[in-house]
Formats: sequence, C-alpha cells, structure tokens
Amino acid sequence: MTIFVKKNELKDFLKSYWSEKKSIGFVPTMGALHQGHLSLMSESSKENLLTVVSIFVNPTQFNNPEDLKKYPRTLEADVEKIKSLNSNIIVYAPAVEDIYEGKTESTSFKYDGLEFQMEGKHRPGHFDGVGTIVKKLFEIVQPNNAYFGEKDFQQLQIVKKLVEKYKIPVKINGCKIHREANGLAMSSRNERLSEEERSKASFIFKTISEAAKLFTTKSAQEVTIWVNQQFKKQTTFELEYFEIADEATLLECKRKSKTKKYRAFIAVFVNNIRLIDNISLK
Ligand code: PAJ
Repeated sequence: MTIFVKKNELKDFLKSYWSEKKSIGFVPTMGALHQGHLSLMSESSKENLLTVVSIFVNPTQFNNPEDLKKYPRTLEADVEKIKSLNSNIIVYAPAVEDIYEGKTESTSFKYDGLEFQMEGKHRPGHFDGVGTIVKKLFEIVQPNNAYFGEKDFQQLQIVKKLVEKYKIPVKINGCKIHREANGLAMSSRNERLSEEERSKASFIFKTISEAAKLFTTKSAQEVTIWVNQQFKKQTTFELEYFEIADEATLLECKRKSKTKKYRAFIAVFVNNIRLIDNISLK
C-alpha cells in the first residue's frame, strides 16, 4: 500500500484518476483507527475505484492544547489495519508543514448558524479548524465522494454546508455510528479510558437510548430533565450537555413538529476525557 507524505506526490499520483474520470473516494481521519473508521473506508471502496485515506492530527481544530498533545498517534498500526481491508486504498499522512506551509492557522467560516450550536459553543474555534483542514484536503484530493461518520453529526452537517457554500464538487456521504458490544460509540479517545471506565461508559448509550424511548411520549424539556437526573445519580461521568435538536438546523427542539427530524446529542467527561454521542429520534 502506498503512503504519501507530500501533497505534490499525491497529486501527481491522482492526476490519471482526475483526467480519466475514475472515481475517487476520500476518508479524512486523525488516525488511531478503529472499526468505525474502517467502516467508512469499506463503504468508500464499494463505491469508488480508489480510496484515499488521510491521517493527520489537525492542530487548528483543537481548542485544548493538552487534548492535542495527548491525541494518540499510531501510524504503523493504522497502516496495518488499512492493509487488512485488502482494498484499493492509498494513505496520505502529511506533516503539519506540508499542509499549513508555515502558517498553522484556521480561516473563519460561517455555516448558517450550525457552528453556534452544541460542539460550537463548547469548543470555540473547533469548526473553523475543521473547515480549514477539510477544505484544504478536498482541494488536494479532489474526490468524487467523501465519507464522514454520524458519530460527529454536527461535523457532518457542517461539511455538507461547507461544500454547498464553496461549491466544492464532492458528494458527502454520512455513515452509521459503529459501537462497542456494550454500546459505547467507538472513538480514538476511548484508548485513553481504563478498562473499568470503558465498561462503565456503556451508561452513555444506555441513557440516550432510554431518552429516545421517552421522547416518543414526552417533550424535549422533560426528556432533558430526566437525562440530567440520571447523571446526578452517579459520579463517574460529568455531563457537559444533553440536547434534543433539529437534524437540519441543529437548533434546540422547543416544541415538537411532525415535519422535522430530531436527534439527541450528548457530551460527557470521564476523568478529563471528553466523549460525544448522538441518537436519531422518532
Ligand atoms: P476522526 O475523529 O479521526 O474521525 C474520522 C471520521 O471517522 C469522521 O468522519 C468521524 O465521524 C468518523 N468516525 C469516528 N468514530 C466513528 C464511529 N464510531 N462510527 C462511525 N464513524 C466514526 O473527525 C475527524 O477525525 C476530524 O475532525 C477530520 C474530519 C479528519 C478533520 O480533521
């Protein structure tokens, strides 16, 4: 499997795909790959002649320097996992310099208000960093399709808005959340949890699944109060936010409307490690 570290070499390789209109699928990641990432790559491999996977821990999207420092970097193991898929995949694993060329800064983006909700409120600057890197990567790879997980649902909606606003010719495909057997959403950050924390973290999915059931008969406000109560009853997890929002606008659901699709979103701290999850509501 070929690993490119320089964008110019990658672009040289991709030229024939662009000129011969052979479809390229793209899966951007920050590495420390797990089954969730691999499912995006499998999806891309089914639908495209070539899949490009980027592995790059993007400094401009971390609002917390400690989080950036502690983010797992496991390139060799990641490459082995990708190889095991036995698909036509190449990796782009650049250094910060190749991407940012001495100017490691993010550009400011407007996403019609999507950026002011949930993760946007709690991680200032995060979606500017995401927009900056995703736009740069799209310009380098020029893919036909790109694959993003619903695990980061707000990011998925923001990337859809980014390509719409900047008229970037790529189709954004959302992919289902991959979970551990106990329900915990797979995440590179799970690697920092102890065995005990990992097992206890099933509480997060259990609580939002229960909330989803309650939402069929109760209001968003009642469900939110119930979730807050569940978190007050225990001490392992600290709830940062729980919110029921409209999938399209990400605005908080004040009164249910039959024409809207809702989703419940949650962010939780376990011992300084921040985990997010979400669930679609009926
Ligand atoms: P990262 O957290 O590595 O995630 C890469 C992609 O994998 C994202 O689209 C994410 O939603 C998806 N993903 C993560 N966990 C998943 C799971 N359990 N099930 C399904 N998909 C999952 O998201 C980023 O990196 C960065 O912000 C990036 C887009 C690469 C920009 O730097």
